[in-house]
Amino acid sequence: MTVRWGVIGTGGIAHSFVTDCSATGIEFVAVGSRTRESAEAFATEHGIARAHGSYADLVADDGVDAVYVATPHSRHAEDALLAIAAGKHVLVEKAFTITAAEARRVVDAARRADVAVMEAMWTRFLPQSVMIRELIAEGRIGRPRVVEATHHQALSTDPQHRLNDPALGGGAILDLGVYPISFAVDVLGTPTAVAAAGTLSDQGVDTQMGILLTHEGGTQSVVHFGLDLRSPNTASIIGEDGRIDLDATWYTPTTWRLRDRDGVVVEEFDSREERTGYAHEVRAFEAMIASGTHEGGAMDPEETVAVMAVMDEARRQVGVRYAADQDQDPARGPVD
Ligand SMILES: NC(=O)c1ccc[n+]([C@@H]2O[C@H](COP(=O)([O-])OP(=O)(O)OC[C@H]3O[C@@H](n4cnc5c(N)ncnc54)[C@H](OP(=O)(O)O)[C@@H]3O)[C@@H](O)[C@H]2O)c1
Repeated sequence: MTVRWGVIGTGGIAHSFVTDCSATGIEFVAVGSRTRESAEAFATEHGIARAHGSYADLVADDGVDAVYVATPHSRHAEDALLAIAAGKHVLVEKAFTITAAEARRVVDAARRADVAVMEAMWTRFLPQSVMIRELIAEGRIGRPRVVEATHHQALSTDPQHRLNDPALGGGAILDLGVYPISFAVDVLGTPTAVAAAGTLSDQGVDTQMGILLTHEGGTQSVVHFGLDLRSPNTASIIGEDGRIDLDATWYTPTTWRLRDRDGVVVEEFDSREERTGYAHEVRAFEAMIASGTHEGGAMDPEETVAVMAVMDEARRQVGVRYAADQDQDPARGPVD
């Protein structure tokens, strides 16, 4: 079965994703934009057959089986629900939504409509991530006790840019922090406690944050991230009998090594790929659609909701508030 993909949004990641995935034979048949001009330009550039001048027209396209949502976080819930209501499977860019409550609404709607929904947390589907899960399951590092991961990038300082605009879900946590948080949850499970500290911009979004997560059995993860400076962007999983160290940039196809409990390298891996690596998540999602099982796999929707809940709590502690928080908890008062 060939899945026919439609794309919502024509921004930066939509271009990278379609370029990367098209090169592996994934079939894009339509694109929808807020403007017809942008949809047509995108369709022409990527050889896509149909260009729609609205997201509603894209989801109404009978020739589309699955929709990829590539809009700012603040629109993800609305755009995913639009696609689900039209009976389409939907792959939603990270962060899945703004809040856990929004994520819950989307996941429940997909269940009711019997369509597949997944967060496009592509790192979890990379061959290196699959191998790492296998090595841990085989006991090669013993019981994992600590995860360390960072994600800093020096990004746009333009106040209008979506990353800096609270109305569009700006800030480091939803864009960058979601990677190490999702990684920690993948390895150690849903946290039982969240302790966060951070710095806010004049516009009220987090420019920098550090979070200590406590997981089942007292295991811990330490993640930090920021959007206005660079860091090595490395990660480690530390077990009782060894550890796994991922080089920069850990959340992309990279080099990494397995060490014994004394820190001696046991095995070295080079998982670098020619392309970015977005196609792995798409192939996994297509396999899920083909099998008729709409949940489970490397990025189960319930785990996405759990990651969103961690981010809700970290934002609450640091003081990052979006309009969607008001819907979730009116007792918290109006958004500034
Ligand atoms: N997986 C990854 O590696 C990766 C990398 C970067 C970003 N992302 C995620 O992808 C999403 C989009 O990021 P991006 O960097 O591609 O953003 P972007 O370049 O700003 O593009 C977002 C697109 O969304 C549409 N849009 C709808 N309402 C909008 C609004 N009010 N303001 C601006 N754009 C609006 C626009 O497309 P139309 O004009 O065509 O409607 C726009 O081009 C984010 O959730 C981000 O976290 C993922």
